[in-house]
Amino acid sequence: MAEIIGRKIIKLSGIDSTNNYATKIAGNSNIVEGTLVLANEQFSGRGQVNNIWESEAGANVLVSIVFYPVFLPVHHQFMLSKIVSLGVAGCVSDYTGGVKVKWPNDIYVGEKKVAGILIENSIMGMNIGWSVAGIGINVNQNVFRSNAPNPVSLAQLTGRKFHLPEVVNKLCDHIDKWYKFLKEGDDEAVNSAYINSLYRFGTEAAFSDNEGSYRGTITGVNEIGQLQIRKTSGALSTYHFKEVIFL
Ligand code: BTN
Repeated sequence: MAEIIGRKIIKLSGIDSTNNYATKIAGNSNIVEGTLVLANEQFSGRGQVNNIWESEAGANVLVSIVFYPVFLPVHHQFMLSKIVSLGVAGCVSDYTGGVKVKWPNDIYVGEKKVAGILIENSIMGMNIGWSVAGIGINVNQNVFRSNAPNPVSLAQLTGRKFHLPEVVNKLCDHIDKWYKFLKEGDDEAVNSAYINSLYRFGTEAAFSDNEGSYRGTITGVNEIGQLQIRKTSGALSTYHFKEVIFL
């Protein structure tokens, strides 16, 4: 049972984006940590790098969670991305196997994306003031119309239909568990679970960067969240988001 995540739930039938809503209220002093903004439908759902997030009305989990990780130095903000990824991956794993986190925070089953995460922070000096984690899990949608790469839903993966409030409850429990590790300073537990869940970790695969395509092996993710890949040529490359493509 989650203690922090979802202790307050704001339910909306339709909204432009739960992240827009949550980032607007996150600075208000009456908002408690773990507040979850949940929508049945988004008219302008946002994905990473200005992409749209497609979701059929009433079919999927669309939530944004407000965090106040004031204990987290700005240069450690990727830890929040890790715990949210682990929480979403844990939730999806309650329903299907083979769940991985594709760096930095896409949730994959096999070669398909079942959930996405969009984190937005406000920085106060050297620390994070508030952080909003927007999460979209494809649950009961059966047809995807946008040009998003490889979308898939739990229904498509399992042939079942799911009760959305149950999925949201599980999501809260899993994120709660990982957020507690972070709050208690058990970074080691978070880091090792993240690496264990990492898509393509330790196996040679094809990538491309600004120098062209190559084969290499993911060896880790550094403190500031950059992906590290050892090229078969021997060189170690380090990437920010969008600097490397998984082929
Ligand atoms: C991605 O591109 O992978 C991130 C997708 C994040 C989508 C979720 S749905 C709930 C929340 N509100 C938004 O507008 N986006 C996030």
